[in-house]
Amino acid sequence: MTMNEADWDARYTNTDRVWSNNPNHALEGELTNLTPGTALDVGCGEGADARWLADRGWKVTAVDISSAALARAKELNDHPSISWTHADPVQNPPEPSTFDLVSMHYFPLVRTPGDVAARAFVGAVAPGGTLFVVSHDMTEDHIRKHAQSHSGDPDFNPLDYYTSHEFAAFLDHNWKILVDRTQPRRIDPSSGGAAHINDTVLRAVRIA
Ligand SMILES: C[S@@+](CC[C@H](N)C(=O)[O-])C[C@H]1O[C@@H](n2cnc3c(N)ncnc32)[C@H](O)[C@@H]1O
Repeated sequence: MTMNEADWDARYTNTDRVWSNNPNHALEGELTNLTPGTALDVGCGEGADARWLADRGWKVTAVDISSAALARAKELNDHPSISWTHADPVQNPPEPSTFDLVSMHYFPLVRTPGDVAARAFVGAVAPGGTLFVVSHDMTEDHIRKHAQSHSGDPDFNPLDYYTSHEFAAFLDHNWKILVDRTQPRRIDPSSGGAAHINDTVLRAVRIA
């Protein structure tokens, strides 16, 4: 069973803060020198990444299914260049060729036949733009155990979710992959998700 809107709202309302409110390490590592434009932050959570992008000149559409997350994001990380958007982009995918950056950080996207949603996120990148996907390294032995205890769901299987690496398969000759690797994650012990040790990172540019 995957978490739905009510589950995510409960996760955010049951605690003062879920994440560290620091931007994700991989974001800082990879995108600091990228020329700003329009960005889609998919599953923005409490908004630290959106804020980091906005501070660097990006005009950010920060989307989340949880209104509780967005309320907190607005309170912690508001910025005139961020549009906080309550939506489910899996059910209502973004328009094609719309954003100079599509950034997905630990977005729980379940694998589906035809990969419709994953391909829609790829397609939302405009020519010249960047696709940036970061996921947990699901090959770590302890992940399944941790995820089960975390979600309380014995049927939870982390292997049901796309990793960043799998997005490479959706990129045709119009794309150039700049990064596709597993790397250690900066872990903030006070933050949700601190049990995850490694990130998988995909960064690709749409050349045409
Ligand atoms: C693991 S959290 C990551 C949050 C943030 N990107 C970060 O790195 O701190 C996943 C986020 O995706 C949101 N989410 C889950 N499913 C969603 C969906 N179908 N549409 C939009 N947001 C969704 C959740 O509410 C949650 O805030």
